[in-house]
Amino acid sequence: MATDLTWGTRYLMTEPRHFTVCYHINPWMTPTVDGEAAAAQWKGLVATLERAGATIEVCPDEPGLPDMAFTMNAGFVAGGIAVPSRFRHPERQPEEPHWRQRFTALGLEVVELPAPPEVRFEAGDAFLVGDALMGGYGFRSDRAGLEALGDLLGHPVVAARLVDERFYHTDTCFCPLGEGRALVFPDAFDPDDLRRLLERLPETVLLREEEALTFVANSVVVGGTFFTASCPGRVRDALEGFGLEVEEVEMGEFHKSGGSVRCLTLPLDVPGRLP
Ligand code: ARG
Repeated sequence: MATDLTWGTRYLMTEPRHFTVCYHINPWMTPTVDGEAAAAQWKGLVATLERAGATIEVCPDEPGLPDMAFTMNAGFVAGGIAVPSRFRHPERQPEEPHWRQRFTALGLEVVELPAPPEVRFEAGDAFLVGDALMGGYGFRSDRAGLEALGDLLGHPVVAARLVDERFYHTDTCFCPLGEGRALVFPDAFDPDDLRRLLERLPETVLLREEEALTFVANSVVVGGTFFTASCPGRVRDALEGFGLEVEEVEMGEFHKSGGSVRCLTLPLDVPGRLP
C-alpha cells in the first residue's frame, strides 16, 4: 500500500443532472457549461474509480441546486456519523436539508455541528491527518467551524487561514496523502499558519502557482493510484516517488464551477468515532 490512508474505497457521488453555472460564488465560475459533456465526464470518473476498486454510492441532485454535484461539500463524514455543512452562500444553503436526507438514507447518524448558528462550515475545508483535524478557513468555513468539528470528533485542530480566493476551499490547495505527505500550494495560506500545518507534513510537495491552477490538489487516491484532472510533470515525478501511479481524468466542465475530482467524491469510509 502506497500510503497510510485507510479510507478511500467507498464514496458518495451525486449524479449532476442539474449541474450548471448560473451564479458566481468563486472566481472560477464561468456560465458556459456543456451539460452533456459534464455528464459524460462525471460518468467517466465513476467508471474510472470503480475500475480502481472503489465502491461508488450514487445519489440524485435536485432541480435548481446546480452545485450539488460537489458531494464533498455535503458534510464531514467519519466513523458512521455525518456532520452536515453550513454553507456560506445563500445560493447553496438550500442544499442542506437534501444532504441531511441523503445521509440518513445511507444509514449515517446525522450530528449537527456544536457551534452557534451563524458559524459556517463547509466540508472540503477539513481533513483528518493522523490524529489532527487539519483545515483552512476564511472564504467558506469559519475558524470556529473547524474548531467545533475538532471538538466534536475529539481531534486537535490545525487551522490555517486561506488568503487567495482562487483557492477558496482547502481541497483546492491541500491534498493530504498519508505518512506525512501532502501536496500544498503554499501561497494560498497565511504564512504563519502554513508553517504549523507543514510541521506535521514533513514530506510535502510545495506546488507552484501554475501547477496549483491545474486543480492537481483536488484529487483522490484509490488503491495506490492518484486520480487527477491533469498532472504537471514535476508533481507526477514526486507522486511516483511516493509510490503512487498517476491517472488523468477529463474534468474540464467542472473546472468551470471551481471543482475537480475530489470535490465530486465524498469518502464514506473515514474511520472515527465520537469521543
Ligand atoms: N461552485 C461550487 C462552489 O463554489 C464549487 C465547489 C467545489 N467544491 C470543493 N470542495 N472545492 O461552492
